[in-house]
Amino acid sequence: MTHILSEDNLQVIATNAKAKTDISHIHAFLGAKTSQKWLDVAKDNLPLLMQDHANCEKKAAGTAMNLIFRYEFHRDLQEKLAQLVREEMLHYEQVLELMTERGIAWSHLPAGRYAKGLFKHKRTYEPASMIDTLIIGAFIEARSCERFSALADVIDDEKLAKYYKYLLKSESRHYEDYLALAQSITDESIDERVAFFKEVESELISSPDSELRFHSGVPDFV
Ligand SMILES: [Fe+2]
Ligand SMILES: [Fe+2]
Repeated sequence: MTHILSEDNLQVIATNAKAKTDISHIHAFLGAKTSQKWLDVAKDNLPLLMQDHANCEKKAAGTAMNLIFRYEFHRDLQEKLAQLVREEMLHYEQVLELMTERGIAWSHLPAGRYAKGLFKHKRTYEPASMIDTLIIGAFIEARSCERFSALADVIDDEKLAKYYKYLLKSESRHYEDYLALAQSITDESIDERVAFFKEVESELISSPDSELRFHSGVPDFV
């Protein structure tokens, strides 16, 4: 097996992590910060979190792939999301490798409430449906970024913390790309819709949740 996270690559990762860790624009975009309780429970359940992270990378690529098929005439979307799919699949391989290194066997983990909770508000007619899907994509990417950054500061696994910091750059670009694509397909401002999803997303992150997932709310089971 090729080792994607070789010593050379880790060196690059460490350098990149130092180069860019400012995610203040992400914090400004999101309506709520990750709670201390989620972080406390998450750092004690890293194997489960890594399994869910692997699922998220695969789903991120799948969702983008669906958009590529559905909106074949939007050239900018084709180019941006083709790159995104490549990056998410690379992340997927990297997370698999980190799981293998830690002896974490693959386990079936059903999705939490987060994505469903966002997509249930997606309008069903075009171009509103496309705009909403892209805005939701922006929130999921922005939240991933915020959580990687917060987790990197509290976990003891140094290599994993470095890896989470390395992910900030691409996840923050994914958030920006999704948001720009959403605005690119309409002459009207999308601000109202962004504000709506900001509230829905904050509620999902700040309210009690009976499950731990990468994008879950405040754990209410401990
Ligand atoms: Fe990713
Ligand atoms: Fe991403």
